[in-house]
Amino acid sequence: MIDRSLRVLLTAEQIQKRIRELGAQITADYPEGPLYLICILKGACFFLADLARAIQREVFVDFMGISSYGKGKTSSGEVRVTKDLDISLEGTNVLVVEDIVDSGVTLSYLMHVLEQRRPKSLHIAALLDKPERRLRPVEVTYVGFRIPDEFVIGYGLDYAEKYRNLSDICVLDDPTQGK
Ligand code: IMP
Ligand code: MG
Repeated sequence: MIDRSLRVLLTAEQIQKRIRELGAQITADYPEGPLYLICILKGACFFLADLARAIQREVFVDFMGISSYGKGKTSSGEVRVTKDLDISLEGTNVLVVEDIVDSGVTLSYLMHVLEQRRPKSLHIAALLDKPERRLRPVEVTYVGFRIPDEFVIGYGLDYAEKYRNLSDICVLDDPTQGK
């Protein structure tokens, strides 16, 4: 890693191994038939791509854009749907695929929105969970890794739109150095 403000927290190998385990668990938990994976843009798209291939079920994929953070590290507290789904969820098994649960503000809002569309089941798979930061309760059925209260980037996660394409997940110690 060239960037000295980055410290590796989870290697690409650790991430891929854990996603294979989650995929096997999800495959075992769901009945035959389609599973609707709802990817929360943009951070979760890398996780979605790997998780979907680790699930041995018929899978449908759709995307939802939610904005709750500005360009920095802190939540604006506002949640907004910036891109809605193309498909109906009524009567379907839905798994929301998210990169990280932090305050829980985004997902608690989103779950409320999705419940109104009357899916048969509705669960969350989050690659990362920072439980110390929780402000709103969120039930996360599938968690990749519980991590401490540190700002992380890579594998889809960004700081001001940077670093999404790193294969490892790293702690960003000093964002002013990470230019
Ligand atoms: P929440 O509403 O506070 O749970 O925020 C969830 C969203 O904030 C995630 O989907 C991320 O986009 C973003 N986020 C929270 N923590 C981090 C982090 O450590 N690195 C990068 N993005 C984060
Ligand atoms: Mg996100």
